[in-house]
Amino acid sequence: MQKRSMRPYVLLVASVAALGGLLFGYDTGVISGAVLFITKDFALGTRLQEFTISVVLIGCILGAAVTGWIADRIGRRATLFTAGIVFFVGALLSALAPSETVLLLARGVVGLGIGLSSVVAPLYISEVAPADVRGALVSLYQFAITVGILGAYIIDYVFSAAGEWRWMLALGVVPSLILIFGMLAMPESPRYLFKIGRGDRARAVLARMDTPANAAAEEQSIHASLAVKAGGFEVFRGREVRWALFIGVALAVLQQITGINTVIYYGPQIFQLAGVASAQHSIFAQALVGTVNCVMTLIAIFFVDRVGRKPLLYLGLSGMFVALTALAYAFSQSHLSGSLSTIALVSMMLYVGCFAFSLGPIVWLLISEIFPLQARGLGMSIATLANWVGNFLVSQFFLTMLHKLGTPGTFATYAAICIVTLLFIRALVPETKRELLEKIRVRGG
Ligand code: BGC
Repeated sequence: MQKRSMRPYVLLVASVAALGGLLFGYDTGVISGAVLFITKDFALGTRLQEFTISVVLIGCILGAAVTGWIADRIGRRATLFTAGIVFFVGALLSALAPSETVLLLARGVVGLGIGLSSVVAPLYISEVAPADVRGALVSLYQFAITVGILGAYIIDYVFSAAGEWRWMLALGVVPSLILIFGMLAMPESPRYLFKIGRGDRARAVLARMDTPANAAAEEQSIHASLAVKAGGFEVFRGREVRWALFIGVALAVLQQITGINTVIYYGPQIFQLAGVASAQHSIFAQALVGTVNCVMTLIAIFFVDRVGRKPLLYLGLSGMFVALTALAYAFSQSHLSGSLSTIALVSMMLYVGCFAFSLGPIVWLLISEIFPLQARGLGMSIATLANWVGNFLVSQFFLTMLHKLGTPGTFATYAAICIVTLLFIRALVPETKRELLEKIRVRGG
């Protein structure tokens, strides 16, 4: 394959699609600050308070479950456009909600938007991207997630002085409008166009994205992969596709059960356990976590197409293991203060930083790469659904885990799962760096 630098147009297309990631991050992050004031305004008990937080994840699960089917019917571009509309309606409705019931419904709608975009945004980006920059462009999507999370922490902080939860939720409208209007001007994925027999349009899109030689090579390999005729769930009859599904689902679940969202969702509580005395300091520490998460994702953007997916994963998972082991050690001491408390804080930053350049972006990247075209929509949908179920379980049971296993036991469990993940990747995951999507093969086929 001919090597070339990235065209500004490709970057623009990926950036607009990545707004789906920004909304994913913003809308999952914003509720932690808003819920304090919602609880007061609607006089919520603990149950309803918890449900106000978790209803979005139920929406995500439902949204992810149907997206593959939708994206194969109406196309990637129209699905992402629809996600934008769903985000817009959900944000507006939740900001104006006259009652808790309407608010719950609206947050469920926002969840649907997140579910839709978490499947179709990385799928779309990986299908439009030239092979030699695909890793960077899908990592841009993860970068947008982290910007959204950090943005939510900051907006929550700004509006918390006046308790303006409606503004916190309303601001999601801005990126959703840019996504809606942006997608109107974006091209359809050339792979989807070939699949539905619109070769002329597909060729025109490929020509804008890549050099003539690369575009011709891509077209040829897309045709070869389309020669295999199968529709719907039939595609999963093949051994290789089933194997890809197994790897995709496992990676998606492992990304969650190594514990990242305990820090993203419960950071301030963990900081308090680690000896940070005031609520204000814990919120500041949480903003620092958000910043580390964002900045360290840039490492993936720069290196994922140069050194490859697997070396970054090995490095990141090893760092996460060390950080979690240090956390388990610090928390196993009877009293956390002074240097132990510093070890705990530094370890949390190291843990998040290592996730940010490895499992964070690269799991989304791999699950958008390992399925053959005929199975990509459905396969990504199922893997992403598994990711949301994993997210739901970890965030629901984190406090129970702390209670049953103790804080050191909880972090030691996550550390052990990092090792399992590393071994799994070493044994079963293919290196996909710079390979044309259609040439990527998982073992077992
Ligand atoms: C994960 C999310 C997580 C985020 C943190 C994403 O890749 O899927 O669950 O909250 O990274 O940056």
